Amino acid sequence: MNLTDDELLRIRPERMASAYMEYRRSGYEFIYRAALENGVLDELGAPRTVAQFVARHGVASGKAVVAELLLEALNRCGAVRRVGNRPSRFSAVTDYVPPRSIDDELIRLATGKSSYRELGYSGSFGRVVASLTHEEKHALSGFDASNADLWDQGMQLPYYRYARMCAVRTLVSAGSDLLDLASGTGLGLLELARHTTGGGEGRFVGVEVSPDFVRVSAERTADAPRTRIVQGDLEQPLALPGAQCFDGAMLVGAYHYLRDATPMWQSMARLVRTGGVVCLAMAYFRTGSYDQELVDLRYAQRNPVAHPRTRAQVIAEAGEAGFVLEREFWFGCFGWLAFRATGDQRGSEGAGMTSQPNSR
Ligand SMILES: C[S@@+](CC[C@H](N)C(=O)[O-])C[C@H]1O[C@@H](n2cnc3c(N)ncnc32)[C@H](O)[C@@H]1O
Repeated sequence: MNLTDDELLRIRPERMASAYMEYRRSGYEFIYRAALENGVLDELGAPRTVAQFVARHGVASGKAVVAELLLEALNRCGAVRRVGNRPSRFSAVTDYVPPRSIDDELIRLATGKSSYRELGYSGSFGRVVASLTHEEKHALSGFDASNADLWDQGMQLPYYRYARMCAVRTLVSAGSDLLDLASGTGLGLLELARHTTGGGEGRFVGVEVSPDFVRVSAERTADAPRTRIVQGDLEQPLALPGAQCFDGAMLVGAYHYLRDATPMWQSMARLVRTGGVVCLAMAYFRTGSYDQELVDLRYAQRNPVAHPRTRAQVIAEAGEAGFVLEREFWFGCFGWLAFRATGDQRGSEGAGMTSQPNSR
């Protein structure tokens, strides 16, 4: 299934959220099977602390954190039970069977693959579990040329593309001078150029920290009019000239890579006009949703390190720079949040109309 942008945008966020969650459910099933095959569950015949499990299973030094995340993920899906607290102990649920079969139609909607078996999850999660006892490092690392194709594939999965397209739609309705922050390999810039309503007017500026991705995206957008990419680090004030000269900005799949988001919000307060919009999409949060432990385990394999925040933290960070939350929807622990610029840098808590998760 290869949906056009318009077909994708006709899907309601609640439906895509269900599809996304089914995809994660299939992830838990692969984790469970890998744990079974690699003897992880055998070690948990009696309740064990993480330290006891690490010692018995021969977990490599430096991988105790991954081992703990794995136990938390197995606990979330029901294959392992937590016994007591301080320290928690984990025990295998001997009669555990995955609760119901995976709905392949939802998997198709979320991922474009015809069945969950095609996802390659068994390979990647199999490696995470099998490599607990090896010193080797991250599964997918670094925003550089050697990983560009892999990142590209991930960023074109329908559920991810959907979140980016919703941001594109919001931005183009705000105006035609638009920023794509952490613009990656240029997919979002092309979508902005494709969907702009500004006729021959406007410009699309990408800001990206990775020199390799700047190069890849410059090639990809070479034929797109009025598009340019500048190398820049969102953890520093942006060197773009002008004040209040953009109608909107989006930051897709990257908020969690910022250790400090203050410079980014301050740059937005300077560059985005009052009434303009800043849209965060596919931002990894700490929500406690069903997928949290699985996604935590996945991000623990990656470099650079991610910093998931709570919803309240992000609203406060935006509020300090004068942005109020206007709309949001959620794919489990991934948030999509649109903020409006008030022009009031002291913050204006509560001034926005916020909707419930998964609504528009
Ligand atoms: C998962 S990719 C998302 C790319 C693009 N937004 C998309 O959705 O197609 C994350 C991107 O964030 C960029 N990034 C991470 N930290 C950054 C920073 N401090 N400043 C600018 N870009 C950053 C990475 O180089 C990478 O291109």
